[in-house]
Amino acid sequence: MDAENTEDKKIRIAAVADIHITDTDKNKWAEYFKEVSRKADVLLICGDLTNTGDESEAKILCDELKSCTIPVVAVLGNHDHEKGRQKLIRQTVQSENVHILDGEAVVIGGVGFAGVKGFGGGFDNYMLSMFGEDAMKAFVQEAVNEALHLDRALARIDQQHEHLKKVAIMHYAPMLDTVKGEPEPIYPFLGSSRLAEPLIRRQVAAVFHGHAHMGTLEGTLAGGVKVFNVAKPVLLKAGYEMPFYVVEI
Ligand SMILES: [Fe+2]
Ligand SMILES: [Fe+2]
Repeated sequence: MDAENTEDKKIRIAAVADIHITDTDKNKWAEYFKEVSRKADVLLICGDLTNTGDESEAKILCDELKSCTIPVVAVLGNHDHEKGRQKLIRQTVQSENVHILDGEAVVIGGVGFAGVKGFGGGFDNYMLSMFGEDAMKAFVQEAVNEALHLDRALARIDQQHEHLKKVAIMHYAPMLDTVKGEPEPIYPFLGSSRLAEPLIRRQVAAVFHGHAHMGTLEGTLAGGVKVFNVAKPVLLKAGYEMPFYVVEI
């Protein structure tokens, strides 16, 4: 498929986050993945694939994903890091059909998908700055690094495929509006405005994230960049019985 043919063609992107697969989820997701495959051309899973970061949960997800007949693009979340087995989780879940991104990009259906986990640090004027104890500086540095990895992944898409639409996928939120609904004291742990800068500068068509389970479904960054918090509890609260959100771009 050459780039000219794909420019005008729209694709249906289904997205969810925070599926938190547990050891008791065996055979519970097949119908979900079949339904997504009927309704969309690609599925995004925006982190917290597993509940406790255990490879046994990743194995269950891998088995359930056999019912998914469309390509899957995913990033890991903080829960997937809980036991330090994130590499194993990535290896277990990824396949020819399932792309787990960590600062990389993949092109599917004429759209470039860039993925990172992201990190916290707070938003706008209340974003943490590089100051004080080493631990605090390390916290800020992690968000800076994730923003740089996101920028690099988006740049790769631009370099390799000029004029391709870009979609970003992350676990943490890049803006305040889509975490609203959560208790204010935990905002700094839900995302960081540092993630927003590359999204705006590189004119991403849409951004999908999760992590803020009690947040808000939609927000808009400067330049009209649409942001969707597709955390499963957010979608369920919004009335989606099958919790996935479809955007056509
Ligand atoms: Fe979560
Ligand atoms: Fe999370």
